[in-house]
Amino acid sequence: MTSILVVDDERSMRDFLKILLMKEGYQVQTASGGKQALEKIEQHPFNLIISDIRMDGMDGLELLNTIKEKQPSLPVVMITAFASPDDAVFAMKNGAFDYVSKPFNVEEIKSVTSSAVAKGMQSAEDKSISAEFPEIIGESREMIKIFEMIQRIAVTPANVLIYGESGTGKELVAQAIHRHSLVAEEGFVPITCSAIPEELMESELFGHVKGSFTGAVSDKQGLFQLADKGTAFLDEIGELTPIIQTKLLRVLQEREIKPVGGTRVQNVNVRIIAATNRILEEEIMAGRFREDLFYRLAVVPLRVPPLRERKGDVPLLASYFLKKYSKLFGKEVQKMSSYAMEVLMKYDFPGNVRELENIIERGVALESSNIILPESLTLSSFRKDKSDSTTQPASPFQVVANEEELFDMGLEALMAETEKRCLTAALKKTDNSKMRAAELLQVSFRSLRYKVKKYDIGLGKK
Ligand SMILES: Nc1ncnc2c1ncn2[C@@H]1O[C@H](COP(=O)(O)OP(=O)(O)OP(=O)(O)O)[C@@H](O)[C@H]1O
Ligand SMILES: [Mg+2]
Repeated sequence: MTSILVVDDERSMRDFLKILLMKEGYQVQTASGGKQALEKIEQHPFNLIISDIRMDGMDGLELLNTIKEKQPSLPVVMITAFASPDDAVFAMKNGAFDYVSKPFNVEEIKSVTSSAVAKGMQSAEDKSISAEFPEIIGESREMIKIFEMIQRIAVTPANVLIYGESGTGKELVAQAIHRHSLVAEEGFVPITCSAIPEELMESELFGHVKGSFTGAVSDKQGLFQLADKGTAFLDEIGELTPIIQTKLLRVLQEREIKPVGGTRVQNVNVRIIAATNRILEEEIMAGRFREDLFYRLAVVPLRVPPLRERKGDVPLLASYFLKKYSKLFGKEVQKMSSYAMEVLMKYDFPGNVRELENIIERGVALESSNIILPESLTLSSFRKDKSDSTTQPASPFQVVANEEELFDMGLEALMAETEKRCLTAALKKTDNSKMRAAELLQVSFRSLRYKVKKYDIGLGKK
């Protein structure tokens, strides 16, 4: 049964929503504040949380933030006051599924609830399918579609053409298709077409017999013999020369090969997965790639989208690579600072996942603290957004009038003074919302809350 938690500090509102949703057939529990809500969430698997924003103690945005850290796929619908559209925008930016504003429209609540519940179920399914592909990191809609496609085509013998920009993960996808295929126990034999000189290519593909050319000192098996009954992975297929294209086409048509210098033909049964970062249709138009070969290879075409079209995967990939390289380098770099993550999210990754991996690798290597700061990121083609400068904190040197005063105060006190000024300014600007102030200052919510307590900064209770 679908189970919903309603969080509101106003009893009449809780009861109203509870009755409304129970009539719709949902099981409903209520909580009177963020803290109580979190306790209930730990004890019971909810499908949806509906929470008011303005509450004493832990408010709705803080609750949202905590839920998104602990259970990112649990949908949260926020209730906002009619007069505060900023709250709605902020909630959406921080991962709320949707919001409804007071005063309520009953039909709106019903429809938002049912689509949020459906979304929750969808993301539970997405999670379980991505668990089938532990070596490919990604939970974006685009990657889920690829996982579904792999599952569907893996069990057929159809040839697959994987295309996409460099560094998108084409080889990983090819391996995954093989691993999920009916011939997973047989060989997966890769060959990089661009890496082999033309005169050797035929022998690499089809093998040769002893003495067939200078240097052929013994019989040699080619890709097709080695991959027989299994999968051959032809990487960078766009680089094949016309002569080899023709020979390959013949093999695909006849399903038999003749080794170089040999007289007997051999039957082979190989599934071909090819990959390219070229646009083969353009190569065909330009007369560089055989159209008939293209159709033989691309029985199932599979596009791996560039990373900039699935930015949602960036945090997941970043933390995966962070763990990988921290371990490899024996370092204790545990996380990205929220500002460093923001910088990554704005970046367009011309080199795709491979570039992200390199950025994190370098970041971990350069970082001396346990958190990756924006300074440790080296992005090849990044232009900093000019509007950012308005959110940079004031220089500590503005705190005092002259250098002598700097030395009188000492670094500790200066830093504290600067922190206090930044916090006060941000809280004032955000109408005392710690969540938004943290965002403005580009620090985590937790660290802002800690500092506010430490300096005892209060602009009056909200
Ligand atoms: N979704 C992913 N999860 C984890 N690692 C990934 C993912 N996608 C790519 N990588 C990593 O990024 C690097 C590049 O991936 P891969 O070699 O599969 O890309 P490609 O599309 O074949 O690139 P190219 O066209 O340049 O050959 C590899 O180190 C790979 O492990
Ligand atoms: Mg590759």
